[in-house]
Amino acid sequence: MTIAPDNRPLLRVAPHARGKRSPITCLLKCGDQCARAAPNTTDNEYFPDVATRALSRRGVLAGAGAGALALAISPAASSQAAAATLSGSRGRGRGLRFSPIAPVPATVDAVTVPEGWTWNPVIRWGDPLFDDSPEFDPAHQTAESQAAQFGYNCDYLDIIPVDGKRGRRALGVVNHEYTNENIMFPPTTDPARLEENKRVAMAAHGLTVVELRRAAPGLPWEYVRGARRNRRITVQTPFAVDGPAAGHPLLRTKDDPVGRTVLGTQNNCAGGTTPWGTVLSGEENFHQYFVAGATPENARYGIPTTVSASGRNWWTVDPRFDARQPGYENEVNRFGWVVEIDPEDPDSTPVKHTALGRFKHEGAHVRIARSGHVVAYSGDDERFEYVYKFVSRRKYRTDEGRGARAHNKTLLSEGDLYVAKFTGDSPATEIDGTGTLPADGAFDGGGVWLPLVVDGRSRVAGMSVAEVLVFTRRAADRVGATKMDRPEDVEPNPVTGKVYVALTNNTSRGTGTNAPADEANPRITNRDGHVLELTETGNDPTATTFGWTLLLVCGTPGRTGTYFGGYTGPVSPISCPDNVAFDSTGALWISTDGQPGTIGLDDALHRVTLEGPDRGRVEQFLAVPREAETCGPVIHDQDGSVFVCVQHPGENGTFEAQRSFFPDYVAPGTLADGAWGGPRPSVVQVYRKR
Ligand code: FEO
Ligand code: CA
Ligand code: CA
Repeated sequence: MTIAPDNRPLLRVAPHARGKRSPITCLLKCGDQCARAAPNTTDNEYFPDVATRALSRRGVLAGAGAGALALAISPAASSQAAAATLSGSRGRGRGLRFSPIAPVPATVDAVTVPEGWTWNPVIRWGDPLFDDSPEFDPAHQTAESQAAQFGYNCDYLDIIPVDGKRGRRALGVVNHEYTNENIMFPPTTDPARLEENKRVAMAAHGLTVVELRRAAPGLPWEYVRGARRNRRITVQTPFAVDGPAAGHPLLRTKDDPVGRTVLGTQNNCAGGTTPWGTVLSGEENFHQYFVAGATPENARYGIPTTVSASGRNWWTVDPRFDARQPGYENEVNRFGWVVEIDPEDPDSTPVKHTALGRFKHEGAHVRIARSGHVVAYSGDDERFEYVYKFVSRRKYRTDEGRGARAHNKTLLSEGDLYVAKFTGDSPATEIDGTGTLPADGAFDGGGVWLPLVVDGRSRVAGMSVAEVLVFTRRAADRVGATKMDRPEDVEPNPVTGKVYVALTNNTSRGTGTNAPADEANPRITNRDGHVLELTETGNDPTATTFGWTLLLVCGTPGRTGTYFGGYTGPVSPISCPDNVAFDSTGALWISTDGQPGTIGLDDALHRVTLEGPDRGRVEQFLAVPREAETCGPVIHDQDGSVFVCVQHPGENGTFEAQRSFFPDYVAPGTLADGAWGGPRPSVVQVYRKR
C-alpha cells in the first residue's frame, strides 16, 4: 500500500485543555489524551479484593523504623552508597542554603533563582555534539544534522560525576520527550520540506549522552564537543529486546521476524540512574505516534485508530508507524517499555526490558534490598492508571570483580512484577472529595503489591506471561489495582527508603462515571495533584505490603483541600508535581508541570522538608520561563549545584511570533541574519554567584 504524503498543517489544536495545561502541550506531549475518555474503563476499584489487608499506619511505620536502622548498617547500604557516588546526590550532607523565591507569574519569560545564585545553559537544543556535527541552523535543519546535535524538549536528566563528587568531569544523560514543529521550523507548504521536517523531528526525539567538564568544583559545567562518549540515541537506533517477552509473536514484525530488535525509543519522559551506572528511561506517550487497528488491547493504551490529532503522521516517512499495515500490527507493542542505556559505552546496544511491563512509563527508579534483589518502581502516567514495581530474580553484585557490572546489567531482565492496591484506613464517608482531612487527621492507610508475574509464572487468570508483560494494563485491571491520579515519578528516598509517588492531577476524578474520590486520591476534579509517601513493610522493598500517607495535597496554600504534611508555617504554592529528586540530606525536591494553567505561575522546582517539625514545608528554589515545564531535577548540594531541564519554553508560540526567548534572550533587532531568536529547550545549571 502506498501512502500519500500528508501535507496538512502539522498541528491542529483542540479548543480547550482539559488537563489545565496549555492546549499545545496537551496536543503535542500526550496527543490530547485528557480530552478523551480515559482508556481505563474497568470498574475494578469496586471489586472486593480478598487479598487486600489494610495495615495500620502505626504498625507499618513502626516496622519501617527498625528497617531503616538496619538499612543504615547493612551491606545493602554500601550499594546505596555506590549509587550515591554515581549520582552525586546520595549520602548524608548539609543540604543547600537558600532563601525561597517568590512565586513567579506565568507571563514571566525568565529563569528565576534565589538571591545570590545565578544560572547558565549547559547544552541547548541544536548544540553540536560531535566534531563533524553541523552548527545549529534552524532554517535548514536536516535529519542528519539533528541526529548529530542535542535533541528537543529535554526531560530526564542526570549529571554523573566520573572522577569523584567534586571532580571536573561528568556524564550528562538526557531524555528528549517530544517536539513542537510549530516553533521549530519556518512555515512551509513545500511537501518535500514537510516530510524532511518529520525526519528532523524524529531525530530530535530519544536521548543524548554528553561529556561535561568544569574548571573547578563550584564553577559551571560545560559540554565537551567531540568527546568520546557523546552519543545520540534516536527513533532509528537499534535496541535489543530482553526479558520474558523477547521474541514472542506479539513483538514480531515483518522487519524483525524474530521480535528481538526494535528501532528506536520515543517519548522518553523521566528515568533513573542505576547503582551500576546505567540509566533507565521511560517510554511514555508513545500511543499518539501510531495509527493501529481497533483492538481491545490497542484501545486500552489509547492508540489512535484514525489519523492522529497531533498530525505527526510519521508513517508517511516510516511505514511501521501505521500499525494497520500488514506486517506492522505489532510495531505498537514494541514501545511503552523501560529502556536501559549504558552511558559509559557509546557502542553498547541499549535494551528494552519486557520484564518491567508495558505501559506509559513515566520513568523507573531502582532501590536495592538488603537481600540484594533490585527493585524498580514505575508509574503509568495517565488518568486512572497504576503504580508498579519489579523485583529482580538475581541479586546485585557489590564486588568490583570481573563481570560484576555485566551481571548487574542483567538484573532487570528477569523477576517479579507487581501492581499496587491502596486502601484507606478512614471511613469512606469521610472522604468527601473536597480534600478535607478525615477524622483521623490523615489521608493514609495500607496497601498490597498484587502479583502479576511471580517466579516466571503469570498470576493473572487467562493471560500468559508474555501477554501480561505486553498488555500490562489489562493484566493490572484484572487483579484489581487502584486507579490513581496520573502516577508520574515513583522514587525511593536513598536516605530513608520511603517511596514518593507524584500524582500530578486528574480533573476527571469523580466526574460522570469515572472513579470517585478515595483516600489515596481524595479530591474530585483534582486539578493540582498530590504526593504520596509509601513505606514498604519492614522498609524492605521486596515486601508485598506497605503503608502510605499523603505528604502533600497540592495547590495554593490556604485553599480548601490543600495539605502540607501538617506544616502550618508559610509554604510556597505548588501544583502538578511531576519529577522528584533527593538531596544528600534526604529532602525531597519536586518539579512541576502545569502551574501556569492551574495557579497562574511559571512552573517551579521546590524543596520539601520530610523529617522533623518542619515536615511538609515547601520552599520554591526556582521558576522556569514562560510556558516551560521544569524537568529532571538533579541536586548536587554537596558542591552547590542544582540542574534542571527546561522543557517546552514558549510552547504556544509560532516560528514568526515566538513567546519565549530562553535561554539566550537576544535583544530583538540585534539578531544576525539567519540566527535563531526563539526558545531552545536546554539543560540549566544553577549555582552560587562568585
Ligand atoms: Fe511526560 Fe508524565 O510526563
Ligand atoms: Ca486516614
Ligand atoms: Ca514527566
